[in-house]
Amino acid sequence: MNVRWLLVVPVLLSCAPATSPKAEPGWAWNLPAGFPTPTVPAENPMSAAKVELGRRLFFDVRLSRNGTQACAGCHEQARAFTDARPVAIGSTGQHHRRNAQGLANVAFASTLTWANPLVTTLERQALLPLFGETPVELGWAGHEAELLTRFATDADMAERFEHAFPGEGVTLDTLTRALGSFERTLISSHAPWDAYTAGDASALSDDAQAGLLLFNSERLECYHCHTGFTFSDSVAHAGTTVVEKFFHNTGLYDVDGAGSYPATDTGLVEVTERIGDMGRFRAPSLRNLRFTAPYLHDGSLATLDQVLDAYAAGGLSRQHTGTPSPLQSDLVRGFTLSPGERRQVLAFLDALNDETFVTDPALRDPWRE
Ligand code: HEC
Ligand code: HEC
Repeated sequence: MNVRWLLVVPVLLSCAPATSPKAEPGWAWNLPAGFPTPTVPAENPMSAAKVELGRRLFFDVRLSRNGTQACAGCHEQARAFTDARPVAIGSTGQHHRRNAQGLANVAFASTLTWANPLVTTLERQALLPLFGETPVELGWAGHEAELLTRFATDADMAERFEHAFPGEGVTLDTLTRALGSFERTLISSHAPWDAYTAGDASALSDDAQAGLLLFNSERLECYHCHTGFTFSDSVAHAGTTVVEKFFHNTGLYDVDGAGSYPATDTGLVEVTERIGDMGRFRAPSLRNLRFTAPYLHDGSLATLDQVLDAYAAGGLSRQHTGTPSPLQSDLVRGFTLSPGERRQVLAFLDALNDETFVTDPALRDPWRE
């Protein structure tokens, strides 16, 4: 199976009835104040049985052809569902060109992966690691039947599929719908910042509160792109009428003076073929940064101090060459931070870490229980 069709099919499907904000019998989200209800595809309403099956699949190394790697191999709970590597490594040892993304609040992302406006549902996204060949991740290209047989012949898993999808059996569709249902429960909402937003002023230290003001200031500009409860401006949820899909060039690279990124990864332009989209990537969430280093789409910066240095210089490329990229966002202009202000910004970012999320038993590996 060639995954390139993923670039095309969602466009064809975009006129299908997309989402349903209607109540789902037997399912309660238990969302905190300030969190909207996630978008759920009409053909895959939430249920406890699907979520539990999806959790089992997500952590099951049988999900890779050679039995060495599950989704969790690159998305570990203790690391807020990323892997601490600069770039991910697939089940056969091939290196991905990109950093594995943390999956906190992925249910609210309007587009999935670092730079592809066409991958918009978790069900479709799951096909990329399952069948991708550049690089091989879980290794199932050309072996779909073997993947399904593996779970259909396991009595316990077959029963769980039947329970979650009565009469539908073990199919690629039911498998990816179960994964999607579990992933929609990866909700991170217990950071000190959440308590502060809910009215507990003592949840943020004085430094963190000062850092929040800096983050939201026109000097630093962070909040334009890292906005709202997900800290990303590409967000969608039930009832959203205008789906925001934004991608930004933050001036990390300029290999030719014309703003080009290294050929290994040029970002959005690969999909749109519009030259102005060179180097544009989706703003990542800033939740749980304590657990998700290294940073950026290529994992090239190891610490938050390095990330702040790059923004302060007006982009990583400018930090090295002194010249801004012609393609970088107007919002990445550079600024000066005193040591105290830097401490405050870092204290604010630290208040976005959610200890509950990385230890939540409901999101834990069920095969180790
Ligand atoms: C080899 C490591 C690896 C494996 C295995 C893997 N992923 Fe990923 N995942 C990544 C990388 C790298 C990205 C970023 C991909 C990109 O931008 O092109 C990613 C991105 C994602 C995203 C998009 C997140 C976002 O914020 O947009 C989701 C969702 C996801 N993976 C779910 C899964 C699921 C489900 C599985 C198992 C079926 C899985 N992954 C297996 C490495 C992996
Ligand atoms: C123009 C939009 C924009 C602005 C303004 C912006 N960011 Fe970002 N930010 C992004 C994008 C896009 C990325 C990913 C870039 C990449 O990897 O190519 C990113 C990456 C990051 C990362 C790395 C996160 C990770 O998981 O890899 C951090 C931390 C971060 N930004 C913090 C900030 C702070 C702090 C500010 C304010 C000083 C700021 N950003 C301003 C868009 C923006």
